[in-house]
This record gives sequence, C-alpha cells and structure tokens, in this order.
Amino acid sequence: MTTLLRALRADITTLAVDAIVNAANASLLGGGGVDGAIHRAAGRELLDECRGLGGARTGEAKLTRGYRLPARYIIHAVGPVWRGGGNGEPELLASCYRRVIEIAAANMLRTLAIPSISTGIYGYPIKDAARLAVATVRAATHALRGIEEVSFCCFSDDDLRVYQGLLGETAGAPDHP
Ligand code: AR6
Repeated sequence: MTTLLRALRADITTLAVDAIVNAANASLLGGGGVDGAIHRAAGRELLDECRGLGGARTGEAKLTRGYRLPARYIIHAVGPVWRGGGNGEPELLASCYRRVIEIAAANMLRTLAIPSISTGIYGYPIKDAARLAVATVRAATHALRGIEEVSFCCFSDDDLRVYQGLLGETAGAPDHP
C-alpha cells in the first residue's frame, strides 16, 4: 500500500484525522502559532498530560491524546530554530518528520495532518522546509508502511502552492482526479 500524500489549506485544529502534528517547543507546554491554537482547542487536559512528558529535544516528538480536538491524538514535534542553515537545521527538521512517522506507525495511526514545522516563528525558509518534509515523509512512510494518508496542512495559499508544486498537484484540481 502506498501512502497518499496531499496538501490542503486548513486550520489543523479542525481536522478529524487519527493524529495531528504540533509544531511545539522543547518545553511541550504550549506557545504561539499552531501550538497555541492546538492547546486552546484541545483544552486544559492537554497541558496536564504535557506536564508529565518532561519536554522533548529538538528533532524529537512525543504523543498525547487529542482531548477536545476532532483528532484522536497529537504528535508534538520540536523543530529547529533557523540560524542560517549551517547549524544542523536540515538534519533536525528531517528527524522531526521521521519521528512523527515512526510514532504514528508504532501506534497504528493511519491518517495524519502535519503543519509546516519550523517555518513560522522559528523562521525556516518555506521552500527548503517543504522539500525536506515531503522527501522525508515519503521515504519514512515507504519504509514503515501502514499509514494511509498524510496531509500537509498549510495555513496560507502561498505555502499551499509550494507543497502542491512538490506533490505534483495543480492548484484548484480535485484531490482524486
Ligand atoms: N493550523 C495550521 N497551521 C497553522 C496554524 C493552524 N491553526 N497556525 C499557524 N500555522 P509556528 P514554528 C502555521 O510559528 O515555526 C510556538 O510558539 C504557520 O503559518 O506555529 O515551528 C511554539 O511553541 C506556519 O506555517 O511554528 C514554538 O515556540 C506553521 O504553522 C514555536 O512557535 C508553523 O508555524 C515553533 O515555531
């Protein structure tokens, strides 16, 4: 079975998938951007569970329940802060995506939605990050199997166009022609 990779524009907190991915920080205790949106939508119980996780290193990811979200689970991944690209940023970002797929496969999670990790507050250039995201997810889902669908959840039309270009989709075309 080949995993379907697709791009869409949405607020990730609205998606009813097995797991959404959070672009978290090392504390795993919430923040701004998509992290803030996920914590607001999931409710206080998410913060309670996160307090017990003891944080996560950059490039790592950890699983929690989804609480009030339509998604059943959340995989919290800590992306690198962009510092020019020569400080291990690509390796750390690739590690995030690999760990997300490993955690999903280990927990039999078949449908995932992933935001564009590190490309907001952390400043990673979108084109480089998206290319790395698609290549890493493609390789990891091929190696591990069992994951049916990965949606790259974009927050802007510009980001969506970048992902669609990488996935060979055309803007406005149906997902399943
Ligand atoms: N749904 C989907 N994508 C979103 C949403 C949403 N509701 N909100 C924002 N994005 P960012 P980072 C997009 O800044 O760069 C936090 O404070 C956003 O447009 O959320 O990894 C954490 O606690 C961008 O494309 O994450 C960390 O301290 C993408 O999500 C820090 O920010 C990622 O942007 C992490 O920074």
